[in-house]
Amino acid sequence: MTSSQQKALHLDGPFGKFVVKPKDIQKPEPSEVLIKVYATALNPADWKIQKYNPPFVKEYPYFLGSDIAGVVEEVGEGVTTFAKGDRVIAKGTWDDRHASYQQYTIVDADHVAKLPENVSFDEAASIPLGLATAVIGLYADCDRPQGVKKLQPPPWEAGGEGAYKGKAVVVLGGSTCVGQFTIQVLKLSGFSKIITTASLHNADLLKSFGATHVIDRNADLVAELKRALDGDSLDLIYDAVGAKDTQAQALELLAPGGQFIAAAMVQVDKAAYPNVHFVTLYASFRIPAFWPIGKSLFSKLHDLLLSGAIKPNNVEVLSNGLAGVADGLKRMENNEVSGKKLIVRPTETP
Ligand SMILES: NC(=O)c1ccc[n+]([C@@H]2O[C@H](COP(=O)([O-])OP(=O)(O)OC[C@H]3O[C@@H](n4cnc5c(N)ncnc54)[C@H](OP(=O)(O)O)[C@@H]3O)[C@@H](O)[C@H]2O)c1
Repeated sequence: MTSSQQKALHLDGPFGKFVVKPKDIQKPEPSEVLIKVYATALNPADWKIQKYNPPFVKEYPYFLGSDIAGVVEEVGEGVTTFAKGDRVIAKGTWDDRHASYQQYTIVDADHVAKLPENVSFDEAASIPLGLATAVIGLYADCDRPQGVKKLQPPPWEAGGEGAYKGKAVVVLGGSTCVGQFTIQVLKLSGFSKIITTASLHNADLLKSFGATHVIDRNADLVAELKRALDGDSLDLIYDAVGAKDTQAQALELLAPGGQFIAAAMVQVDKAAYPNVHFVTLYASFRIPAFWPIGKSLFSKLHDLLLSGAIKPNNVEVLSNGLAGVADGLKRMENNEVSGKKLIVRPTETP
């Protein structure tokens, strides 16, 4: 490996293996920042892409990793808001330039925030994709049919905090990474009743984020949701799980014209629910339509973290840096990870 190279995790082919190999370190273009990645997180999409070889993956090797916590190494022309040595948090994107399963990566300065000292690099790495998925599903246009409204404004913008006081919402899978951030932003938006499903050993954690009711994920959901709603109208469900049974049960309670925001797959037959607006999303701030909300979020993320308004997931740090990713993903695929994020430190790659 030469001095202009780094170690990066390559998915080496369709249904292939994750292999650590040398790769050139990228140069930041104008408006971009080169970040030395101190911590990154494992996400379900990583093992799904390896296992299913989805059609959007056009060429291999493919580069994954969506979460960046690290230190600015170099800034591109025109970047004045960051300087070499700044501790930062940013969102990665799946390509050789922007993915986070490498020791250095590139992010546009619009989507980088300084990391306050009260959040460690390992904790910070648990945040970007989960928070982006919550924020884009709730506050961006996504594929909502005409006339169906996103929540507005987001809680960190003027008039957003507490705007939904008095409303009830259901989050399926509150202890997923996405669910934990969805609960937190819904709380900031003021929802009075935030009902979620999880294994009950995660109940205290989810209540600390703002859940008002935690229902055992294996309970009779219809009965428990009715009890929790206690006559309140349910206009919004956010699903971070993608399980057919729970989707069908929760949909029984959704008011006509309500929204079902699906971070994971919609497994029910949408045609059977003509009065429901299904909303799907792809959580990337590099999509032009989502760029502005990403810029808005990252402009306030430092303060949201410093004040504790947004808290990271609990984390477990794996050994061997990028070489530890494959084993960690197996644990996730086998449902052996509950209520926490698996983290690796690319700088510790042997
Ligand atoms: N659309 C997008 O762009 C996008 C972006 C990010 C993620 N996603 C998708 O969103 C989903 C969540 O991702 P994630 O990273 O947040 O997941 P995760 O943190 O890896 O999820 C693990 C959690 O899933 C929970 N869980 C599993 N089955 C459940 C069920 N039937 N009911 C309630 N909870 C259940 C477990 O909760 P307990 O331990 O409490 O039982 C566990 O804590 C995945 O399908 C992922 O692929 C989509």
